[in-house]
Amino acid sequence: MCGIVGFTGKLQAAPILLDGLSKLEYRGYDSAGLAVRDGDSAPVVVKAKGRLKVLSEKIDGGRTLPGTCGIGHTRWATHGEPTENNAHPHVSDDGNVVGVHNGIIENYQELKAKLEKKGYAFYSDTDTEVAVKLIDYYYKKYQVGPIDALAKTMVRVRGSYALAVMFSDYPGEIYVARKDSPMIVGVAEEGSLVASDVPAIMKYTRNVYYIGNLEMGRLTEGGVEFYDLNGDVIEKPLKDITWDAEAAEKGGFEHFMMKEIHEQPKVVGDTIRSAVREVEGRLTLDLSGTGLSDEFLKSLKQILIVACGSAYHVGVAAQYVLEDLAGVPVRVEYASEFRYRTMPLVEDSLAVIISQSGETADSLAALRHAKEKGVRTLAVVNVVGSSIAREADHVFYTLAGPEIAVATTKAYSAQLAACDLLALKLAEVRGVMPETKEQEMLRELLSIPEKIGKVLEDKERIQWFANKFLNARDVFFIGRGIDYGVCLEGSLKMKEVSYVHSEAYAAGELKHGTISLIEDGTPVIAVATQGDLYEKMISNMVEVKSRGAYLCGLTSFGNYTMEDTADFTFYVPKTDEHFAASLAVIPLQLLGYYVAVNRSLDVDKPRNLAKSVTVE
Ligand code: M6R
Repeated sequence: MCGIVGFTGKLQAAPILLDGLSKLEYRGYDSAGLAVRDGDSAPVVVKAKGRLKVLSEKIDGGRTLPGTCGIGHTRWATHGEPTENNAHPHVSDDGNVVGVHNGIIENYQELKAKLEKKGYAFYSDTDTEVAVKLIDYYYKKYQVGPIDALAKTMVRVRGSYALAVMFSDYPGEIYVARKDSPMIVGVAEEGSLVASDVPAIMKYTRNVYYIGNLEMGRLTEGGVEFYDLNGDVIEKPLKDITWDAEAAEKGGFEHFMMKEIHEQPKVVGDTIRSAVREVEGRLTLDLSGTGLSDEFLKSLKQILIVACGSAYHVGVAAQYVLEDLAGVPVRVEYASEFRYRTMPLVEDSLAVIISQSGETADSLAALRHAKEKGVRTLAVVNVVGSSIAREADHVFYTLAGPEIAVATTKAYSAQLAACDLLALKLAEVRGVMPETKEQEMLRELLSIPEKIGKVLEDKERIQWFANKFLNARDVFFIGRGIDYGVCLEGSLKMKEVSYVHSEAYAAGELKHGTISLIEDGTPVIAVATQGDLYEKMISNMVEVKSRGAYLCGLTSFGNYTMEDTADFTFYVPKTDEHFAASLAVIPLQLLGYYVAVNRSLDVDKPRNLAKSVTVE
């Protein structure tokens, strides 16, 4: 995700900003920039696409940029391609306000239109430029100073943000504001610092203030003051950072995989809210950003989901949701198989290519293959401007942010949410779901992030259960329908990070061979969140139990009869069953993680695996 650093004080700012940004490089970014001001002169803005090194070379490591007050940013594209033009900082039309931003301004289109009417012109595709110009607008309209302008902006924007801005009338000062996006302020003898993450400022100080949601701050050479939305000064305790540098990069978690597992409520929420808006109590689902027209969605005869690895598993779970909610036939194919097949394709099909990186060689080839066959393509991609995103006819961006652990967790969950949105949109335009039902389902979808949070609160139970796997040789995951899709992903997590052999089976297939592999004590994880398949699942569980399996049942709260059969039961919150995969996958991610930790394995970089498979 994006990174922010700011400094004002006694030292030259640019080298400090570059150093701070370099400590945030691990988070991933596609461009970088800084704005530094020397006394009361206007800030000088320098930006570069690509590595931080490119930016650093432009300003000779910061030496050619005088000034002791500045802000810097590394950008991971969410709105607009990764270009120098879209890189931060962004500047208001007359240079009055310059700012950097992490997060997503959900209503930026509406605000942009409003500002255009007021005479503002826009040079980038970013939501950040809109935020900066809105601050400028309120600053000039009310003329009560930076804190008031920021507060008015905070009330007007929807979404998440960590903002650091400088005002031309206030040399040597940096103003900050945050909501749902991390930001800390540090105080050192040489000056004050702000950053989106601890590692950026650890070299200079370990004394920090945590800015609360909807709070603002004013940084000067001599210290920091904090304000609430009314503009009243608030007191905050100064905290001491005790982590070492490596732990700080991981936000205090032991591994990136665990950090990313915990980011899921946020990224799933961001992805859903990128398409769902609430106006006067009514929810609307807007996928117009993809360019897919309602007419086309209405006329669709078939959906082909093509992907690799976990993204393929998303497709397996999503096919049930798409078929059940929208009544559209779905085929799910491995990209590596699809690209060489000569299968007859149904007219008026949509090929949905799912990929975190947008660079997976097989998925890219499958996309090209579909296009050659005249099939319209939709990419569900996380990396803005990636090859698959560029070449697809339509794109839906998941908002998972950069994923560092090789084993995907948060990107998988964001992809699932994207598919749920597509299913609901199809159901809507095809007229197969009553409006009240759609409202109910959208409302339920919006509650999924909080429910994921609830599952995470119970993670110690999974940690305890993971101890049972210390000597496991084979593990089986069984489920039916959507739960089978979840099992595929749970089994992959187990294999890839903990090196325990595991298999996922459609539970009804057990008696066709697999059951002969069950021995005394073989761990079997049975996922059963689907009401109409619950009894069938219990029967399948009894089958393996009677062959000696050590049985874990994963189901929703309320299905307490599970405990009559399972040796260990884990419950997830109740939700609409179409969305249950988003909750059931979390304990399975945790299980793979804890088993790997117990075996002292390199969780974030499992052997033989690459984050993005760009070769065939
Ligand atoms: O970047 P992509 O989503 O296209 O990657 C696809 C697979 O390589 C990926 O999901 C892989 O299976 C993960 N490492 C699994 O955790």
